[in-house]
Amino acid sequence: MAARLALDKCAGAVHRAGLVPGHAGETRSNRYKGIRRMGRCKLVVGNWKMNGLLAQRDEVAAIGAVAADHSAVEVGLCVPATLIAAADAVKGAAFIGAQDCHMQASGAHTGCLSAAMLAEAGATWTIVGHSERRQDQSESNADVATKALAARAAGLKVILCVGESLDVRDDGDAEAVVSEQLIASLPQGAAADWLAIAYEPIWAIGTGRIPTMDAVATMHAALRAALASRIGAEAGGMRILYGGSMNGDNAAELMAIDDVDGGLVGGASLTAAKFAPVIAAAGDRMAAEA
Ligand code: 13P
Repeated sequence: MAARLALDKCAGAVHRAGLVPGHAGETRSNRYKGIRRMGRCKLVVGNWKMNGLLAQRDEVAAIGAVAADHSAVEVGLCVPATLIAAADAVKGAAFIGAQDCHMQASGAHTGCLSAAMLAEAGATWTIVGHSERRQDQSESNADVATKALAARAAGLKVILCVGESLDVRDDGDAEAVVSEQLIASLPQGAAADWLAIAYEPIWAIGTGRIPTMDAVATMHAALRAALASRIGAEAGGMRILYGGSMNGDNAAELMAIDDVDGGLVGGASLTAAKFAPVIAAAGDRMAAEA
């Protein structure tokens, strides 16, 4: 079961050794337009946004303990920068990430944080291009690609977010628009061992609404095809997370979609009690695929 070697440890790397072209484990269902699925370990990451004071360290510790119970799943928490060091000290089996980084390595940018600063504090990942930053801070696709490269240069892994507005969804253009956004935001040298994509429909964030499962499947397949057009076979190993009102009630169904490789979770990641069922759903799915 070479493909399932990936299940034993989720050390962060995508396990390209799992399924190789022509491997006997390949089936029609784990292929998309000729892109072979390579043992993608589920990645479940909480985004605490502007929530969390030192008192929430106990939740970090509790989430780290849940992560230890589901060692086949890679679990992380992207906390406010002020909490990175404290969270790192109690993180257990989870990793700690940041929510953004500056494009530059250093300089006269009052109030900003470089990727190296975040890494020194204890972050091993960062989010870039979240829709709340694209909207609130007017970040462009080019900014997002540059931030991803800055993070990479400091040794951080990156979750790059894309997603459509409700208008775009209603116009029926969502796959084309989000694919274009992804291509335009993709950094040079994008590779599965340091970059993951998060599809977050803006209208689903914090609203309790999610797209239909068919719509999620269609979008994730379109994004993988878009990745393949840029990075070829590497696209088969790159994790594409779903984000937007993911919670313990819908996670199992979302995780079961072929090209959904995990989740980026806001509100439901703020406590261990709410986040644990999402992590468990990813673990169950990996066990079912083994
Ligand atoms: P919610 O899970 O609260 O909808 O937030 C999703 C999100 O924006 C994660 O980055």
